[in-house]
Amino acid sequence: MRIDYGAVSKSIASLTDGETDEVALMATVVCELHHADNRFDWTGFYRVTDPGILKIGPYQGGHGCLVIPFDRGVCGAAAATGEVQLVDDVNAFEGHIACASSTQSEVVLPVWNRVGDLIAVLDIDSDQPAAFSTEDATQLSKILRSVFGE
Ligand code: SME
Repeated sequence: MRIDYGAVSKSIASLTDGETDEVALMATVVCELHHADNRFDWTGFYRVTDPGILKIGPYQGGHGCLVIPFDRGVCGAAAATGEVQLVDDVNAFEGHIACASSTQSEVVLPVWNRVGDLIAVLDIDSDQPAAFSTEDATQLSKILRSVFGE
């Protein structure tokens, strides 16, 4: 099954309409994304809880590590740079944090709030190599902007 970003965007918009609680929003987004695509084996948020620190937020999939400093991992790179990390081969990414040995590729996107603060990163892992495209990054960024940034 491959995600239909239009349909999932509409579903998320409907489910989160009027909601402002970030944890409730994150829980809904990961649930809708995770079950929409067979490539998505781990889908979750890491929240900015202190300067330079990410802590796990709502997620779907096996257990994830609890704390990631900005100077570690793919998530840390996304938080530190503010740039999407599109990783075709996690074994080639220096400092990748393997929460599951089955993970082959990963996409991590920064999450900004309405006033432009970095509040989290969204991490999606796949057991398939090179599972994610720039189109995935574009569509996922649109969903994150519509839920958290507008
Ligand atoms: N792979 C991530 C860590 C999070 S676990 O995969 C859920 C990273 O390298 O930052």
